[in-house]
Amino acid sequence: MTISDSTVAIIGAGNIGGRLAADFAAGGQDFLLGGRDAEAARKIASGLDGHAEVVSVDEAVERAGVLVVAVWLDDFKQFITRYGQQLAGKVIVDPSNPVGPDGEGGYRKVIGEQESSGQILAGLLPAGARLVKAFGTLSAPSLSAAARQQPDRAALFYAADDDAAGDLVADLIRAAGFEPVRVGGLDQSIRIEMFGDLHEYGALGRVVTRSEALKAI
Ligand SMILES: NC(=O)c1ccc[n+]([C@@H]2O[C@H](COP(=O)([O-])OP(=O)(O)OC[C@H]3O[C@@H](n4cnc5c(N)ncnc54)[C@H](OP(=O)(O)O)[C@@H]3O)[C@@H](O)[C@H]2O)c1
Repeated sequence: MTISDSTVAIIGAGNIGGRLAADFAAGGQDFLLGGRDAEAARKIASGLDGHAEVVSVDEAVERAGVLVVAVWLDDFKQFITRYGQQLAGKVIVDPSNPVGPDGEGGYRKVIGEQESSGQILAGLLPAGARLVKAFGTLSAPSLSAAARQQPDRAALFYAADDDAAGDLVADLIRAAGFEPVRVGGLDQSIRIEMFGDLHEYGALGRVVTRSEALKAI
């Protein structure tokens, strides 16, 4: 299943942007790829059988109805500040984990213990923009290795306040080769961000199938 009624864009041609691009393309999903580094975006797109169209970030924001913003939390905040009202009416997909280096080769949370980047970002968006938290519950290697896993597909948790936006992103998760499992509204974002109880790098600690995911909720 792919999304054809809305134009999908990935913003950010880094690690996660590149892995999601490959997952979408493998599922036949067409999308725009908007990166600050056009050369990096072109390199990613070159191996994807024409499923990715490289555009500027401005053009991606203008044309897409669904924007997967694969950048770090601070850059995401700046992205919202920059595009503001242009994001109204769009579905904004947030894979971010609010973490940074801990100085010892690991990661630490960079916002309050009880805060989630999903809720922070949702609060910054203009009225009419609908945020869905998704694609951040697995590590980068698992986002590649577990896509289209057999015999049972791997689950990807997502959180949404808006049902229609959540359904749309569930289809995108399927296109990427995973089984969507909704954890609830955006107030549940913290559970599916890094260190959360449903994250691969949290209490859950591994990739799970849909039936295992439903038990874990
Ligand atoms: N790595 C993981 O295992 C993992 C897993 C799940 C979720 N995540 C989340 O995914 C997000 C991205 O992580 P990553 O590992 O992909 O980081 P990354 O490899 O550093 O890539 C981030 C990309 O964002 C781009 N960027 C920043 N601001 C931008 C803007 N305004 N417009 C367009 N592109 C912009 C950067 O471009 P420049 O090169 O020009 O700076 C860079 O290509 C983070 O929020 C992270 O928490 C990461």
